[in-house]
Amino acid sequence: PLVSMKEMLIKAKEEGYAVGQFNINNLEFTQAILLAAEEEKSPVILGVSEGAGKYMGGFIAVVNMVKGLMESYKISVPVAIHLDHGSSFAKCKEAVDAGFTSVMIDASHHPFEENVKITTEVVEYAHSKGVSVEAELGTVGGQEDDVIGAGIIYADPQECKQLVEQTNIDCLAPALGSVHGPYQGEPNLGFKEMEEISNLTGLPLVLHGGTGIPTKDIQRSISLGTAKINVNTENQIAATKVIREIFENDKKVYDPRKYLGPAREAIKETVIGKMREFGSSQKA
Ligand code: G3H
Ligand code: ZN
Repeated sequence: PLVSMKEMLIKAKEEGYAVGQFNINNLEFTQAILLAAEEEKSPVILGVSEGAGKYMGGFIAVVNMVKGLMESYKISVPVAIHLDHGSSFAKCKEAVDAGFTSVMIDASHHPFEENVKITTEVVEYAHSKGVSVEAELGTVGGQEDDVIGAGIIYADPQECKQLVEQTNIDCLAPALGSVHGPYQGEPNLGFKEMEEISNLTGLPLVLHGGTGIPTKDIQRSISLGTAKINVNTENQIAATKVIREIFENDKKVYDPRKYLGPAREAIKETVIGKMREFGSSQKA
């Protein structure tokens, strides 16, 4: 069923695993992720960035595509459709009104008071419709869509505590050294702060930039209260690698199903690997 992230993440935190957010870009990504979740009996979060939402024809088209696939595939595991890095109250409202079951308001580039104000507005509207809310503090490195990171700024634990107390959000993404896209070298995650923020807020934490984080860091993050891990780039790389190989080996191919089908299979395998690594398999 389509659900918010709230119960999913509380259960994950209690039982010591993380639910993956896998970003969708088109039909094949959505098919692959839903099929992986059903096969693994895992809860799953479909992440939709503003840019990808626009690419797919808008939020309404996205919701109907997901609902249609869930019906024809008879998906029985919990699925959330989540706005990734929502840039404003207006965008979050648009997603909620279109039928998203969860939104992220990323007002982390605003001054703290402004972040609290915008996040509060989003929570009031979203919660009135049963939709869960994720907020961010600090800055994730790298780039995602047109959101360009201003370098890595670690979230401040006291600000996290205040934000949570003042806004009633459902989960928090404290930026602690993770990066969108591939890492240059090993990530340097702020585990000390992660533990402190988890203790101060009591909320499930979210780890952005899941691509390229070593398993030991994933496990440590989960043990310190991380209950949601976002992965995008790794699936994109897996899909594109397969398509590139097919094009190199077959100069005559033109039927999109001949390369998008195998790409879909590669995404599915990648997602299954993540679900096992995050411990969400067999938890639905
Ligand atoms: O919000 C989405 C992510 O944080 C994905 O990051 O592309 O590095 O896996 P990634
Ligand atoms: Zn992110």
